[in-house]
Amino acid sequence: MTEQGYFTESSSADVVVSRNAAAKDARLAQVMEVITRHLHAAVKEIEPSTEEWLAAIRFLTATGHTCTDWRQEFILLSDVLGVSMLVDAINNRKPSGASESTVLGPFHVADAPELPLGSDICLDQKGDPMTVRGRILGTGGAPIAGAKVDVWQANDEGFYDVQQKGIQPDFNLRGVFRTNAAGEYWFRGVKPKFYPIPDDGPVGRLLNALGRHPYRPAHLHYIISAPGYEPLVTHIFDPDDPYINSDAVFGVKASLMAKFQPTVTEAGTTYAVEHDFVLAPAK
Ligand code: BEZ
Ligand code: FE
Repeated sequence: MTEQGYFTESSSADVVVSRNAAAKDARLAQVMEVITRHLHAAVKEIEPSTEEWLAAIRFLTATGHTCTDWRQEFILLSDVLGVSMLVDAINNRKPSGASESTVLGPFHVADAPELPLGSDICLDQKGDPMTVRGRILGTGGAPIAGAKVDVWQANDEGFYDVQQKGIQPDFNLRGVFRTNAAGEYWFRGVKPKFYPIPDDGPVGRLLNALGRHPYRPAHLHYIISAPGYEPLVTHIFDPDDPYINSDAVFGVKASLMAKFQPTVTEAGTTYAVEHDFVLAPAK
């Protein structure tokens, strides 16, 4: 006999949980209990056929096989299930007035060049020019001088440099800036466009089967940090983007909308974006 008797359909979760009673780590035991109970409840509710369960196993196997050094299909799965944003929300509860966070995404690179304020991060002159400016503030409203503002964006066709090696210059549309004494940052880039998350693998096929599109609305990525403050991983979004209300990874928040103000001249259209960020004090 086991602690809870032999395995039956009705006692299944209790039997498995009790088998883990000697777990060497209390947190692991807690996590495995919760996962076991929810998973067994889901299987009981769904009542999968053996073939359906094998299809699920094949899906997870394909997800693993799609992972490489530069492609993390499990994170993509977490993203489209809304789990990445939920983990982000739980770990980034902000005090009133502080800017909200959103997903990091897979396209940040750690060693982007530090550039003087006002630099153009668009190295290939493609797309509609855009100026971006704003201030980095504390929750009390004081400007933060010397804050590090790490930005990256997709080009006007919706691709990051790392997705188009040999087509876009290395470090295209990325840069690290430091705010001036008034807490201000500014740089030039190009108006970003919506783009699909990588959708040629199992996660893309799942989205398709669910009748969902793979697009993220146009956005700029930021990681903002300064001594004495919580780092902020966030985006600003174009509220006029066609996908603003259906981001494939649920990253949009009302407070992260920034107006992309157009100026039309004979030479073409340029855009101006202004957005301040408020950092929470370090915990
Ligand atoms: C991104 O915004 O770069 C991104 C976020 C989640 C999944 C794929 C891309
Ligand atoms: Fe992105």
